[in-house]
Amino acid sequence: MINKGIILAGGTGSRMSPLTKAVNKQLLPIYDKPLIFYPLSILMLSKIKDILIIVNKGQLDQYKKLIPNGKNLGINLSFIEQNSPRGLPEAFILGEKFIGKDNVALILGDNFFYGQGLTSVLLKSKKIKKGAKIILHKVLNPELYGVAKINSKNKIIGIKEKPKENYSNYAVTGLYYFDNKVIEYSKKLKLSKRNELEITDLLKKYLKKKQIKYELLGRGGAWLDTGSIEDFYKTSNFVASIENRQGLKIACIEEIALKNKWIKKRNIENAIKFYGNCEYSKYLKKIISL
Ligand code: TTP
Repeated sequence: MINKGIILAGGTGSRMSPLTKAVNKQLLPIYDKPLIFYPLSILMLSKIKDILIIVNKGQLDQYKKLIPNGKNLGINLSFIEQNSPRGLPEAFILGEKFIGKDNVALILGDNFFYGQGLTSVLLKSKKIKKGAKIILHKVLNPELYGVAKINSKNKIIGIKEKPKENYSNYAVTGLYYFDNKVIEYSKKLKLSKRNELEITDLLKKYLKKKQIKYELLGRGGAWLDTGSIEDFYKTSNFVASIENRQGLKIACIEEIALKNKWIKKRNIENAIKFYGNCEYSKYLKKIISL
């Protein structure tokens, strides 16, 4: 069972420059809330309470302005700075103390998940005791992603980064579950040509040991990666159309905490004071008046 999660929320955001020159990508808005709320909500929906957010060097203060502490969300929140974006597996080296002897989940700060059946996939995935688990989602443009090849027995038989040929349509999403070996394996990884530690290399270590499994986020679910400006606005529009149709918010972190029974109405009142007079606060008021 996994009870600890890391959000990797640093990065250069080079594809979104100049938007990301002064502000970290995860602090930019996806419709009505900062991007970081979305991966945070995914860990909270997974009932993971111990959360480490990794941010870029020098950007800690900005994050703390937005989420000063985890108390109002009923979570144990800590932050760590990454000196430079040396690749995704560095999360497990920087997070070694946080992870301790436990297993751990990792979610990329710019990944968006939504849809029917998502929570059950999350709760099922965190049950792993040994090895690794990844979440796969079918895409039309696998050449942009890391992908996994599945055989007829539903086993992963290969993992490739940005395949040129027709290899597999199952993209490896930015949500991963690992046993404690991940720290040791990450430390042994070598820097790639682009001078980064590569998540694909880490996953291949588990594959070699036949210790990697997957869950499929099916067609009722959406996985969007907000790496480019185009994707960013597509995701924003997606959230706007769902929220304005249903009157329910996606990734309202206080609402999830209340539903999980981690906080009381009093904490929501604190959050309303903290956010001030805005649409988000109006929504919070509605929740506690029900
Ligand atoms: P990427 O999409 O690989 O990189 P990026 O966000 O810096 O964007 P770009 O490619 O436009 O330069 O990163 C995926 C996520 O992981 C993103 O949310 C940033 C985060 N990240 C880190 O926090 N540290 C790292 O070392 C890397 C590589 C990424």
